Amino acid sequence: MTTPCLIRGLGHCVPETILTNADIERMVDTNDEWITSRTGIKERRIAAKGETCVSLSHQAALLALKNAGMRADELTHILVATFSADAYIPSAACMLADRLGINGRIAFDISAACSGFLYALEMARAFVTLHPEAKVLVTATDIVSSRVDYTDRGTCVLFGDGAGAAIVTADTGGQLPTGSARVLDVLLASDGSMGGLLTIKGGGSGTPYKLGETVRRDFFVEMNGREVFKHAVRAMAGICKEVLEKNGVAKDEVDVFIPHQANLRIIDAVASRMDMPAEKIFTNVQKYGNTSAASVIIALSEARTEGFIKDGNLVLLGTFGGGFTWGSALVRF
Ligand code: ACO
Repeated sequence: MTTPCLIRGLGHCVPETILTNADIERMVDTNDEWITSRTGIKERRIAAKGETCVSLSHQAALLALKNAGMRADELTHILVATFSADAYIPSAACMLADRLGINGRIAFDISAACSGFLYALEMARAFVTLHPEAKVLVTATDIVSSRVDYTDRGTCVLFGDGAGAAIVTADTGGQLPTGSARVLDVLLASDGSMGGLLTIKGGGSGTPYKLGETVRRDFFVEMNGREVFKHAVRAMAGICKEVLEKNGVAKDEVDVFIPHQANLRIIDAVASRMDMPAEKIFTNVQKYGNTSAASVIIALSEARTEGFIKDGNLVLLGTFGGGFTWGSALVRF
């Protein structure tokens, strides 16, 4: 038995600076044909100086508040899903609350890599179940470029920066408020035994840096791409099927499928395992790359803004990321 909750407003924002495949060709030994055929990515957005996890979260949050017809001071909880907060301390959520002018609320960050949005959504669902009057701001934001080694062609082609936001409230039943969506279920999972396949270790307490040391490779994303690929496909398809079965939803009843925007080959392989027709799948990885925690919420917000998701549509979300973490959700607009 799960308790539904509402997403009352969505928002997203990406930096203006575009890094194209042609730009990357000038940085490492690669080419547009290789990147496009292996990943589907043509370009990604990269934070400019001064654009941070908190500043992008702030812009996305303002849009979500506007779309929800709410004021910042109505919010009761601020959650930021990220691995790339502006600082270790204070948290991005505390800084965001301050920037929104709403200090005094519960505010904290959630670390679940590319599954961050669904982990934060489930946390928001728990809060509104405990406190039905709660209005929870969830943002999922990553400045992945701050931890990408732009001399490593195996990883630098894959990632981009961005932020998404959602306002989550309790579902008091009755008609869905205009512009809202009902979160029907969220499933989450993790497996730390495979964490070593995708890491950013340097600077953590396990591999700390001392004053004056230069950063090592471990400061940046390191990944066994082939293994990550296999696990991502298996886990994402598995947990998406599981949420459908658990809720008695046939695959054909899903109107829109939004998988984690890591790369088109992973998305195609997941779709094939799920026998999900291509016309139901929303993708924007071509223009943003993999924005980690922000990937699924940016896609959800953009799909809604562009009219790909229509009133009444049932939307299936799927994520997979470092940890490993993975998840799925069913949302009715
Ligand atoms: N340009 C040209 N050649 C490259 C590049 C590049 N950018 N990167 C790697 N290569 C080369 C390799 O050096 C290797 O050359 P070699 O055979 O001479 O040694 C060759 O291409 C094949 O390398 P592989 O790593 O085996 O290539 P693969 O076909 O597996 O594609 C990729 C690599 C795209 C990273 C793939 O493994 C993948 O998509 N993995 C999933 C990773 C991912 O999306 N991670 C994101 C985080 S987790 C998540 O969000 C799901």
